[in-house]
Amino acid sequence: MTPAASRKPLQRDAPQRFDRAYYQKFYGPHSQSVASKAEMSARAELIAAYTRHVGCRVDTLLDAGCGLGLMRDPLLRALPGATYVGLEYSEYLCNRFGWAHGSIADYRPREPFDLVVSYDVMQYLDDHNASRALANFAKLCRGVLFFSALTLRDWRITADRARTDPDVWMRTADWYRRRLRRHFIEIGAGFWVRRHSGLVIWEHQDLIRVRYVAVHDLLGG
Ligand SMILES: C[S@@+](CC[C@H](N)C(=O)[O-])C[C@H]1O[C@@H](n2cnc3c(N)ncnc32)[C@H](O)[C@@H]1O
Repeated sequence: MTPAASRKPLQRDAPQRFDRAYYQKFYGPHSQSVASKAEMSARAELIAAYTRHVGCRVDTLLDAGCGLGLMRDPLLRALPGATYVGLEYSEYLCNRFGWAHGSIADYRPREPFDLVVSYDVMQYLDDHNASRALANFAKLCRGVLFFSALTLRDWRITADRARTDPDVWMRTADWYRRRLRRHFIEIGAGFWVRRHSGLVIWEHQDLIRVRYVAVHDLLGG
């Protein structure tokens, strides 16, 4: 998919968009929440376990587009001693929770992080800014990246449209992969290892990815 073929979002890419009403709609007690606490805890445990599995010691972690910070406590429980930075574009959330305010497209910390998590964020950036953000991950991350974003195929086939925000940029998984591969090695299930990080990637870990892709292709076509 070329950038020109991406779907244009209905709203502009502005931090004001992510206001109280947005989080009430998608995460509020009366909404059909897009992500439950239990689901996010399970995801955080997987991230911590997989990061340990590839031998990455985590002293610092960045939750890039952390939202309400649903993964913060479970990540810190599973990675004791780590320092968590939540980065948010939403002024509303930064005022409410004290997250660092900025965009994943150009955030520049003093030091890169051992672990970077970016879950369900990148579809909110247009092609230009998403490309910048994916390149920026190379500066933000020196170890493991966990990355997930709604794709065009997810929207067409898998997503529960009643609970999923349609006002985003839909792109193919390949669009993301092509850009991430410049600086990261894919090891499956949303995990990427920074090239030249010194982390050893065994071939059996790559087999996990091959098997995952095969099952995914069988299910998704
Ligand atoms: C669907 S929420 C996901 C939040 C969190 N990652 C989670 O899974 O609970 C998307 C979040 O991305 C944030 N976001 C959008 N554009 C961003 C950007 N350029 N930089 C940082 N965060 C951004 C929004 O403010 C919003 O909180």
